[in-house]
Parts: sequence; structure tokens; C-alpha cells
Amino acid sequence: MAGEKINLEFITEYLHTLFPQKDGILQEMETYAAQYAIPIVHPEVRALLEFLCKIKKPIQILEIGTAIGYSAMVFAKQLPENGKVITIERDPAMTELALKNIQKAGLQSKIRVLEGEALEVLPCLQKHFDIVFIDAAKGYYHEFFDLILPLVSDEGIIISDNVLYKGMTATDALVKRRQKTIVGRMRQYLSLLCSSPYLTTSVLPVGDGVALSYYNKSGAADKRF
Ligand SMILES: C[S@@+](CC[C@H](N)C(=O)[O-])C[C@H]1O[C@@H](n2cnc3c(N)ncnc32)[C@H](O)[C@@H]1O
Repeated sequence: MAGEKINLEFITEYLHTLFPQKDGILQEMETYAAQYAIPIVHPEVRALLEFLCKIKKPIQILEIGTAIGYSAMVFAKQLPENGKVITIERDPAMTELALKNIQKAGLQSKIRVLEGEALEVLPCLQKHFDIVFIDAAKGYYHEFFDLILPLVSDEGIIISDNVLYKGMTATDALVKRRQKTIVGRMRQYLSLLCSSPYLTTSVLPVGDGVALSYYNKSGAADKRF
């Protein structure tokens, strides 16, 4: 097992032909990300985010992990006039690139980039979010989640990216020593998502693995039956 992709190469290649590159600034960002090895959402994950926005119709979206602003812009393009994406990024160089890209796309009124460590920024937020997208340091998803849960609207959706971590989450056979702690934490996080009485979670082997969790404050009662 190569430990690189969670799906067979030919399936991934085929899926990429189904989701063609975007136009304009998004396409430029895809090229830039490929050139400088900046991890942005895979095309099939981008399509999933767009799909979820169509059915959920969010107004407020929170993202952890902006990078160059690609997924924030994918979200922003799905929002109504009064919608907003708040996205958190700790790397100042990335924040600068994201702000430039957002300005170039004319999406300043829709996207607010908060520079800082998410674990410090999250406790300062007071809004409620219809969709929360977690796409940052994999070893801290559990900690992000604890801070995010009070910010999620009832019936909101938490999307966690890269949860299968190149297949390592599913089997020790792929785990190298230095990744052991992160993988152990990711497994605990997925167990939490799948066992919480407040969440209905599905884990999809799309991209590098995406967990979709539907939050229902009164869910504890439902799950007794
Ligand atoms: C995978 S990239 C995000 C890609 C972006 N969501 C997209 O698809 O266009 C992850 C980003 O999260 C940032 N990051 C990682 N851990 C973070 C943390 N604890 N707080 C804030 N940002 C973090 C990294 O600096 C990196 O730019």
C-alpha cells in the first residue's frame, strides 16, 4: 500500500475529469497551488462543498484553514447577498496571499480572514454558523471541535477534511512513527463524531476523506431509540 491516495489511482483520475477546472481566478489559484504544493481542496471535495451549500443554503460559514483562500472563495460564491465566510489562518504569508486573491475576485464583502491560531481565535467568535469547515492541523481537530460546537447553529453541518489521512487512519500498516500521534488523535476524533448523540455523521472516502456531521441539539433524545 502506497499510503498516498485513499482511492485507486484510476478512480481519482476519472473523477478529476468529471470536475473540470474552474474559470478565472479559481483556475489561477488551482495552478498556483499545484506549482507551490499548497494543499487546497481536491476537485471532488470542492464539488461536495458546492453541493452541500446548494442543499443547506447557509448564510454564515466558518472555516479553519484558509491557505490561499480557495475553498473560502468556493463557499463565498454559493452565498446569498447577506452571506459571509469567516476563515481563520495562522500563517501570515498565506493570509496575505488569501487577501490578495479575495480582493482580485471582488469578494471582500463576503469573506473575512482572521489571522491567528484557531485555538485562540475561536473562543472570541460569537456568531452562529450554518456550516463549519475544518481543514487545518490534523492533530487538533478534536480541540477545534470542542471550541466550534457552541458556534454551530442547530441543524448546522460540520465538515472535516482529510480525516482518512492518506489511508493511515484506517490501518497501522501505513503509519510511520512520526505520524503515530496525529493518526491516533484523528481516530479518536472520528470515534467522537460517530458516537455523539448530537451528531449524525457520515465518513466519505472522497479526496483524502471527508466527515460530514449534522448537528442536532435535541439529538440525544432521538438516539435513545
Ligand atoms: C489544507 S490548508 C487549507 C486549504 C484551504 N481550506 C483550501 O482548500 O483552499 C491548511 C491551512 O491551515 C492552516 N492552519 C493549520 N493549523 C492551523 C491552526 N491551528 N490555526 C490556524 N490555521 C491553521 C495552515 O497554515 C494552512 O494554510
